[in-house]
Formats: sequence, structure tokens, C-alpha cells
Amino acid sequence: MQRLRIRQLAWSPNGQQPLLDDIDLDVADGELLGLLGPNGSGKTSLLRCAYRFQRPSAGRVELDGEALWQRSPRWCAQRVAVVLQEFPQDFGLRVHEVAAMGRTPHKGLFDSDDAEDQRLVSEALARVGLGELAQQPFACLSGGEKQRALLARALVQQPQLLILDEPTNHLDPRYQLELLRQIKALGLATLASFHDLNLAAAFCDRLCVLDRGRLLAVGTPAEVLTAELLQQVFGVQALVDTHPLAGYPRITWIL
Ligand SMILES: Nc1ncnc2c1ncn2[C@@H]1O[C@H](COP(=O)(O)OP(=O)(O)OP(=O)(O)O)[C@@H](O)[C@H]1O
Ligand SMILES: [Mg+2]
Repeated sequence: MQRLRIRQLAWSPNGQQPLLDDIDLDVADGELLGLLGPNGSGKTSLLRCAYRFQRPSAGRVELDGEALWQRSPRWCAQRVAVVLQEFPQDFGLRVHEVAAMGRTPHKGLFDSDDAEDQRLVSEALARVGLGELAQQPFACLSGGEKQRALLARALVQQPQLLILDEPTNHLDPRYQLELLRQIKALGLATLASFHDLNLAAAFCDRLCVLDRGRLLAVGTPAEVLTAELLQQVFGVQALVDTHPLAGYPRITWIL
């Protein structure tokens, strides 16, 4: 079943030259779709259109068959969780309070957190390895710990679609792998941008490549990650072979 369906999407910030054009994309239930492309190719802009932050100039974004832009921000927040590159202003919040913010779309204005909310928060923090740091101020965490706290907030939101903008930024190799394993284990429809092509090849079910606002390729990692495409899109020569242990494509840049 398709959770997210994007059709004929275009976006232009000033009504002139579109920065995204002619985008068709589907993310199925349980699928991790990786979004690749050079700096400035439009990855973050496309994600923003998909989580109802930036209204496309043309086309449709549907979640479970419903037009996202005809629904309220709250409707969207009950279904779509987002982990971004930037960290939010934390206003002195502790880690568990940041995670608990994920419950907000599901609650009334004056509802306080109940036992079920607290259970979800503890479970999510344990899942991202931050159980011990629950009482720490968010501001004191390292970059990687902050990233994991924000994933916990997204989990607490119990979304149907997860959107991640460069989720492994700031993470050391162990936590890059752990975070992506955790994301994969959630089994949610997930759309995530990546710069690390080897990580994307290892974890994503399918990949798509943006170049100057247009989708150049969509397919399995082996279909998409060819030396020709990498040369064309990134202007860098690469050796593409198969990972000897795992079977997915492996990229070695030729310097
Ligand atoms: N609100 C805006 N107004 C004008 N131009 C914008 C706006 N938002 C983004 N852009 C431009 O759109 C292009 C795509 O930006 P975007 O942030 O989507 O790229 P990206 O693929 O996420 O890049 P990166 O890999 O560096 O994160 C850039 O040239 C950027 O300057
Ligand atoms: Mg970006």
C-alpha cells in the first residue's frame, strides 16, 4: 500500500523558475526510500513539501490517499513525524521533555502527560539508547545524542510516515549504523535524504536521485548507483562494485 504519493509536484519560491519540477514519487508502507542528490538539488525542499511545511506550486501530495494540503497541520502532525538537520530551540527542556513533545498533536491544549505518554517516552528513549540521559538538559547533549533524542520524539509521535533530513549527520559510525537499524526496524514508510551513498545503499529499499530539482533516477540501490550516474550527478568518478559481505552496491570514490 502506498502511504505517500507525490504527483507532478513543482515548487517555486518566487513564482519564477521552479526549484522542483515534475516530481512523481511513492513511498510504500514499510519502505525506506532514500533521497540523494548534490547540495542545492532540492532534497530538503522536497521533504518540506511532503510534511506540509512548504506548499507546492503545482501537483499533489497524498498521505493514505488524502490530499495533505487540504488537511490541517494538526491532521498532518498526527500522521507524519520529521527529524530535521537543524536542532530546535530547546527553551531549557530536558531530554524526556523534548521527546514528550511528540505527543502534542495527539492531545488537547490543556491535557497533561498521562501514564501512557510517559510509557511511550521511556520506551522511545530506551530504544535510541538515551534512557540514562532522560533527565539531562537537551542543550547539554552532543550532536549525535541530540539527533537520537529527536528520533525518540518522532517515535513518540507514533507516525505513519517518517521524514528524515540527513539523519546520520553528527553521528559516529556506530550510531550511524544503530540509528539506521532502528529506523529500519520500525517498519514505517520512511523518506530520508542522505549524502553518504554507501549508507543509503546498505539500508534503503529504493533510492531516488534529485539533480537541479528534477528526479533523475528511481529504483533499487543496484539500479540507481551506477558509475555513469554518479559521474553525471556529482561530477566525481567512482568505482561501483558489490559489497563482499552483504551484496549491496559499494561506492569507492576515485580521487
Ligand atoms: N525559500 C527559498 N527561497 C529561495 N530559494 C530557496 C528557498 N529554499 C531553498 N531554496 C534554494 O533551493 C535550492 C535547493 O535547496 P535545498 O535546501 O532543497 O537543497 P538540498 O538538496 O537539501 O541541499 P543540501 O544537500 O545542501 O542540504 C537551493 O539552491 C536553495 O538556495
Ligand atoms: Mg538539505
